[in-house]
Amino acid sequence: MRHFLEIDDLTPAELARVLDLALVPDPTPVLAAKGMALIFQKPSTRTRNSMEMAVVQLGGHPVCIQGDEVGLDTRESVEDVTKAMAGFHAAIGARVHQHSVVERMAKVEQIPIVNLLCDEGHPMQALADLLTIRSEFDGLEGRTVAYVGDANNVARSLAIGAGLTGVQFRIASPPGYQFASEDLDRIRLVGEPTVCDRPEDAVAGADVVYADTWTSMGQEAEAARRRRDFEGFQIDERLMGLASPEAIFLHCLPAHRGEEVVDEVLDGPRSRIWLQAANRMHAARGLLCWLLGEAQR
Ligand code: CP
Ligand code: NVA
Repeated sequence: MRHFLEIDDLTPAELARVLDLALVPDPTPVLAAKGMALIFQKPSTRTRNSMEMAVVQLGGHPVCIQGDEVGLDTRESVEDVTKAMAGFHAAIGARVHQHSVVERMAKVEQIPIVNLLCDEGHPMQALADLLTIRSEFDGLEGRTVAYVGDANNVARSLAIGAGLTGVQFRIASPPGYQFASEDLDRIRLVGEPTVCDRPEDAVAGADVVYADTWTSMGQEAEAARRRRDFEGFQIDERLMGLASPEAIFLHCLPAHRGEEVVDEVLDGPRSRIWLQAANRMHAARGLLCWLLGEAQR
């Protein structure tokens, strides 16, 4: 059974197919008369709405569940919740704290599991990011993405996705917030990431400048320290000026305006953040269309 826990659960050819399916005007209604459970242990705007809409567009019925309602490992074990859900639904999407939770769901092997963000990755976001870059530049191969900030879940999935699609990935993070060596090992299985100390070096001549929050969900107690540690890693017009003249700015959102990025860039002419957010729905539809359709054959 195929699951989607990280973007390298897809081969390069499958990833290209998912991105193609995201743009098909009349996709096969692979979820007709079926449900998809969407479990959230953390807040969400884009992921919940894009997944719900994608399920509806594929003929299905989404059931959104807050983590507390099912009580993963408190009211009932992750495995037992998964088995119960398999009686009602064709797939489960889950936004969880630990990657091990989606792995345990997948091990039940009854229905496909989709990772809707965990501490390690955000593969649904990476699909939408690649879709956005592909449409902006009419292809992915040979483009350069410069990620400035925390080497977090979003950065990890984007780096792997870039490797799978021939996109050059550069990252600049302050000391203490860089990829661990095992992360780099995994990314190097598919690509050749460039690790820079200075944001300026990452951004120089890049096609895409990318930011995420300095303080991810669950790290709120560290926010003040992180604001100090990330000083000098804010994306402003000066930094954007070092990128390619055609460069675009992306951010997975939610943005912390005035921290990782200034309003002038977020709301400026190079920003594609709202297109990128809307692409979450198209990318989700493409992924589900593949996962519940072609991948099952
Ligand atoms: N980018 C993203 O996943 O947004 P939400 O947290 O609002 O779902
Ligand atoms: N890195 C962020 C992404 C939010 C979509 C977080 O995990 O909170």
